[in-house]
Amino acid sequence: MTVPPPCRKAVIPAAGFGTRFLPFTKAVPKELIPLVDKPVIQYVVEEAVASGLEEVLVVLSTGKEAIADHFNPAPALEARLSADGKERLLTEVRALNHLARIHYVYQAELNGLGDAIRCAAAFVGNEPFAVLLGDTVLTGDDGRPVTGQLLQAYRKTGGPVVALEEVPREWTRRYGVISGQSADGALYELDSLVEKPAPEEAPSNLAIASRYVFTPDLFAALERTPRGKGNEIQLTDAMLLLLRERPLFGLRFAGRRHDIGDKFEFLKNTVTFGLERPEFRDRFAAFLRAELSKLEGSDFV
Ligand code: UTP
Repeated sequence: MTVPPPCRKAVIPAAGFGTRFLPFTKAVPKELIPLVDKPVIQYVVEEAVASGLEEVLVVLSTGKEAIADHFNPAPALEARLSADGKERLLTEVRALNHLARIHYVYQAELNGLGDAIRCAAAFVGNEPFAVLLGDTVLTGDDGRPVTGQLLQAYRKTGGPVVALEEVPREWTRRYGVISGQSADGALYELDSLVEKPAPEEAPSNLAIASRYVFTPDLFAALERTPRGKGNEIQLTDAMLLLLRERPLFGLRFAGRRHDIGDKFEFLKNTVTFGLERPEFRDRFAAFLRAELSKLEGSDFV
């Protein structure tokens, strides 16, 4: 096989309404929900950069400009931090301006994830590209970024690769679900995909987990994709069209998925990430133990 063209670009859809996290998301983008002190989308951009991607396009919608503010220079704030001698914070704030070359595009109407990716066509051109959903953090085992793992599989297969995660069968309604064949239990060649199937109709319990590497022929497939579930342009439907023309792959990545767009998942992940921070770990663990002990003897424990 000839070496596939290098992948340099990342697209981060972040235009959605975030209805699962209302009322918070009425005025604040869900991609700015923090895990401890960093908004979700910063983790996502950091993953793209750690995976070797140089150019990033964030898909926004009106009212979500605070996402761009997070990565733009803030001269007044920087001057204040400098005057106050707060060097560590100043370094952290300045680093955001140089994290990546970040561009923005607006999705005019919120017609679904497939439509959001369509907005990236001019930015991507005729190159392969990665898609990282802006409301989900993925932590790779041994510090290996999950998008980087997909890119490795892309270099091996030369075709599009999606991240796969095993989920409990009763959860299939929340995800795109695949069926496919695998020689090693990690890299799958896909036979089919279904968007949000009922558990009894799901072809497997392998869910598509918010990271993708695509070849540019996805855009032609998106143009041919009619509105699907929820009257939206579904990325899964476009991938099904693409599957008729070329092999698609899935990789069971080594790592964990943290979906922040859902309130309960956010609560769980706040605990997970809080306990991982050395400066909080002991105090936070003691606090959690104390809170849990209050429940002892009640109906909850
Ligand atoms: P979701 O389906 O989780 O986002 O899309 P949503 O529609 O904002 O959330 P709920 O279900 O109403 O709570 C995953 C990612 O795709 C983006 C979202 O911003 C999110 O980061 N997205 C979704 C778009 O960019 N455009 C869309 O039309 C839909």
